[in-house]
Amino acid sequence: MSSGTIESVLHEDRLFPPSAAFVKQANISGMAAYQALCDEAGRDFEGFWARLAREELLWQKPFTKTLDETNPPFFKWFHDGELNASYNCLDRHLKTQPDKVAIIFEADDGKQTTITYKALYHEVCKFANALKSRGIAKGDRVIVYMPMSIEAVVAMQACARIGATHSVVFGGFSAKSLQERIIDAGAVAVITADGQYRGGKEIALKPVIDESFTLGGCEGIKSVFVYKRTGTNIPMTAGRDIWWQDAIKGQPDTCDPVWVNAEHPLFILYTSGSTGKPKGVQHSTGGYLLWCMLTMRWTFDYKPQDVFWCTADVGWVTGHSYVCYGPLAVGATEVVFEGVPTYPDAGRFWKLIQDHKVTTFYTAPTAIRSLIKAGGDLPKKYDLSSLRILGTVGEPINPEAWMWYHETVGGGRCPIVDTWWQTETGGHMITPLPGATATKPGSATLPLPGVIADIVDETGASVGKGKGGILVIKRPWPAMIRTIWGDPERFKKTYYPEDFQGKYYLAGDGATTDMDGYFRIMGRIDDVLNVSGHRLGTMEIESALVANSALVAEAAVVGRPDDLTGEAVCAFVVLKGERPATAEAAKKIADELRNWVGKEIGAIAKPRDIRFGDNLPKTRSGKIMRRLLRSIAKGEEITQDISTLENPAILEQLKHSL
Ligand code: WT7
Repeated sequence: MSSGTIESVLHEDRLFPPSAAFVKQANISGMAAYQALCDEAGRDFEGFWARLAREELLWQKPFTKTLDETNPPFFKWFHDGELNASYNCLDRHLKTQPDKVAIIFEADDGKQTTITYKALYHEVCKFANALKSRGIAKGDRVIVYMPMSIEAVVAMQACARIGATHSVVFGGFSAKSLQERIIDAGAVAVITADGQYRGGKEIALKPVIDESFTLGGCEGIKSVFVYKRTGTNIPMTAGRDIWWQDAIKGQPDTCDPVWVNAEHPLFILYTSGSTGKPKGVQHSTGGYLLWCMLTMRWTFDYKPQDVFWCTADVGWVTGHSYVCYGPLAVGATEVVFEGVPTYPDAGRFWKLIQDHKVTTFYTAPTAIRSLIKAGGDLPKKYDLSSLRILGTVGEPINPEAWMWYHETVGGGRCPIVDTWWQTETGGHMITPLPGATATKPGSATLPLPGVIADIVDETGASVGKGKGGILVIKRPWPAMIRTIWGDPERFKKTYYPEDFQGKYYLAGDGATTDMDGYFRIMGRIDDVLNVSGHRLGTMEIESALVANSALVAEAAVVGRPDDLTGEAVCAFVVLKGERPATAEAAKKIADELRNWVGKEIGAIAKPRDIRFGDNLPKTRSGKIMRRLLRSIAKGEEITQDISTLENPAILEQLKHSL
């Protein structure tokens, strides 16, 4: 763990309290209501969560024990209870609002499709039956590699319905990344599409699956379901591959849900850590779904007349909690969008908000920044008066972007919820409540009721208000990660380190609080980068680079700040052969290596900058001095102590290598 306190460099004291009218109608109305919930959790922690779990979830078998702490950090919630996530998202609405639109789907080309709760229920049942007919059953792992579509949601819900554990892989990941995940999860089936459309371009999906199989070790996959989206001719392997449209033909449109234990793994989602190997974050059914529902009500102040739009892909946790599960469980109408924010032009998001009368809009700071750049005045051309809440997620938002979002998109009237959370937390942890918290640009503000967040030093002692340090969560919460799939030791070591006697959940972020106790997230304290709100391990990219054994002798990867993407990936590479002599030669090899990383991991991991050197800056014991690389990457003068450096001359070479 990196040491030293992280001091806030930002001084932001603008305060934006919610309007009286908003407070009046809010689910959590005013700070006193927030405080009352915090107090309730403080008085009777288990009773608080038990009450909410009984109010929100439909239990087939009620739980009697709320929290089991006998084997920390392997906490169990509601674990003698039984339920089904798909039943909680669909069946519960069949009597009350069968004809309400569940999903408004807008394709890349603008074509719109809507599906009601009743129709969605039948689609999920049919596809669940198709999965069953291929022998897929409770506990099996199923890879989902799909474009943003109604079918992506159907695929995930169908897995949940039969108790299969899904593992969604973002469509931008490469064949190699897919293969690793298929093997690690021990998956028996894949659900995919022939391809997808993004920004007017067709992108293949099924061929990537086929390529991943050729890499070996995927023999466990017995079925590949292929949704026909583009209609482009693709090879199908008889006996294994089946078109989605054929698989559901003749299937009954009802399917009894398989009741599972509250602790049953609803999904595994891979994310980057500080080693080369991605971690399979395992989530539960009961605690996770509870969190999705509560945060829909608390953070997004969900009301039945809302039109909710979370722009995240289902390949990320945000798309799990706020596209697939949360909105459906509370019975919302939500928008699902296949395309990109800049196609056909940078007004696409604003047009969607106008056309579908979106009330709640949730996106990433990177998207906001790129839309400011592409057309800061464009929102004014659209009628955005339907909006009532704006949200951000994935990375810190700079106060300038926050102000633009507030004024130009929100017309100065919409509270902004800057939600801090992680793949591991399942849902929001530190966030404003739109009808209670006075917001400050760039601050995620306060923890949700029942979330015991704190900032500590390396010994685990609280640093107190106004100081920086390490962000920890001091009590378990229902939606927390349960383990790393297949690696409980790594789970324990990573998240409940001995540094804090195994007692606190270590988020991996540095943070500060101000005198109001508001949290400001300062970024990762481990070797994890955040590029456009997506997590990338520096080690993962380094391993990908050195895997090119013909070209690369050694590589070190660091991040540098970037106005648009938050951070950018910078690689320092020592080639096996000569260092390129001309800028042109360097560019050629750099492009080759970028494509290589794209193949190894996926396009999102391609280094922005690649610098070549005869060596890397190392201490006498051979340790790479990354802080020096960070300074070079930023273009900073090196003012740090370099007396322990073995080869100081290398710094000049690397500095001028771009
Ligand atoms: C990391 C988690 C949460 C879903 C999407 C990303 C950073 C997340 C914020 C925020 C500042 C944020 C943290 C965190 N992060 N939200 N509101 N303000 N930083 O999930 O890929 O698991 O990444 O994203 O560094 O640890 P993830």
